[in-house]
Amino acid sequence: MAQVTDFVVIGSGIAGLRASIALASAGAEVTVLTKSKASDSNTEWAQGGVAVVLSDDDNAGLHEGDTLEAGAGLCDPRAVETLVTEGTRYIKELIEWGTEFDREGGRLVFTQEAAHSRRRILHAHGDSTGKEIVRALIARARQESSIRLLPFADTEKLLVRDGRCVGVRYADPILKAPRDIFAKAVILCTGGAGQLYLHSTNPSGATGDGIAMAYFAGAEIADMEFVQFHPTALNLENAPRFLLSEAMRGEGGVLRNARGKRFMADYDERLELAPRDIVSRSIVSEMRKTGTRTVYLDMTSKSEEFLVHRFPAIAATCSYYGLDISKDLLPVSPASHYCMGGVRADLWGRTTIPGLYAAGEVTCTGVHGANRLASNSLLEGLVFGARAGEAAFRDDSEAEVVTSFSGASAAGPLDARVSTAVRKRVKRGMWEWVGIMRDGESLTRALSEFEQIASANLSNASRNFVTNALLVTRAALWREESRGGHFRTDHPDPVEEWRVHSVQSFGEAIRSDVRINFEREAAV
Ligand code: SIN
Repeated sequence: MAQVTDFVVIGSGIAGLRASIALASAGAEVTVLTKSKASDSNTEWAQGGVAVVLSDDDNAGLHEGDTLEAGAGLCDPRAVETLVTEGTRYIKELIEWGTEFDREGGRLVFTQEAAHSRRRILHAHGDSTGKEIVRALIARARQESSIRLLPFADTEKLLVRDGRCVGVRYADPILKAPRDIFAKAVILCTGGAGQLYLHSTNPSGATGDGIAMAYFAGAEIADMEFVQFHPTALNLENAPRFLLSEAMRGEGGVLRNARGKRFMADYDERLELAPRDIVSRSIVSEMRKTGTRTVYLDMTSKSEEFLVHRFPAIAATCSYYGLDISKDLLPVSPASHYCMGGVRADLWGRTTIPGLYAAGEVTCTGVHGANRLASNSLLEGLVFGARAGEAAFRDDSEAEVVTSFSGASAAGPLDARVSTAVRKRVKRGMWEWVGIMRDGESLTRALSEFEQIASANLSNASRNFVTNALLVTRAALWREESRGGHFRTDHPDPVEEWRVHSVQSFGEAIRSDVRINFEREAAV
């Protein structure tokens, strides 16, 4: 029983919602598939905020410069320019749609985060920025009667006919069976794959299904070796790796080792506000030096009143685990946080497959290069979500919608969950061998482990999961240098000849490209 719609959007985080609103306000019918409920996404978990040029002492050139610097030579300057210049307009629009960013005396309040030369991070309800943005976007999306949300609908595969994406196959939650939905175009907004690692700040759904599905459908996948580890996830036995926002260090928090020594001065003159990869590696070195598995975030220079007002959700979570953020040293260690790589997409979200668009963390557009500047991801989802929606409508609203598909069914048994055994083995292997510090030996070991797992008869979800692990591992083994989020102890320095992007396509050897944007972009 096939269905037909104008456009399918997969994912309901900031990128998916913004793309859907763009399509619906242009007059299209949009079906939004999400694997959980509509408000469950990585966006919802974003604490820190959204970087935007709105304060009097800031300008687009400064934000652009900070983003390029963090990206360690692999940003696409046009993508960065698009992000910072268009970002301001889209944030103002979010405010018009009712998003309540924090204010003092009526004026927006900006906070500081690592590697930003200005205080330019907006936040909402202290540390619940993503949640507030999702609330406002869902409310706005509900005003569009042509947006249909389909929750608990796991997408199994992208349907590609004659080289064009014509729809998706998903697991219908009511029929409990696979079902096809055909459309003029599909927009992937499925987020990243932080859950590949044993320790992650991401929600359990961040398994990177969109990246693997696009890979199997024939799309190019770029820069998967670049994974960002957040330095300060709460590190308590039997507690999830809850994020202790970088904004806490922006507001004066300091890092201490197990002996109580403030150590960042030994590693970088920017101290606790050095880029995340540097802070994460410094923490690992310090844990090794002191023979412990943790360091501590010290917020005790700030008053309880300030901290509870500024970080209410963090204060409440820590309190649940018996920690008073104004009095106790908070045990922290790094955890996987963000994938810079993903489905290769141009500035309009077009992937290398006609009819398939993508936006947000699932993509690699060149906005983040080898390392994302803190708080640029919500902005990316907003700007590039809107652009993907606009481009899909402009390019494909006349496309013919097919009504049947005879392609092979799902790759393995129908099961929307990654099996416990696969999840455990992949997460541990990624953490031990493909983590914050890797080398040729550890990566080769990981490759053989993941290839063995992939050779079994796996459900679609498990296959996607281990495929993403393979994509990261292969690219990390291929890149014989260190740059941004990718650090190899056997090749510890950046090498100019390696200032290229890794590109992977199904059935082909990994290759390099000096540009991340590609030919199809010239069409607009
Ligand atoms: C944080 O609050 O530290 C996370 C913000 C981000 O990853 O951009």
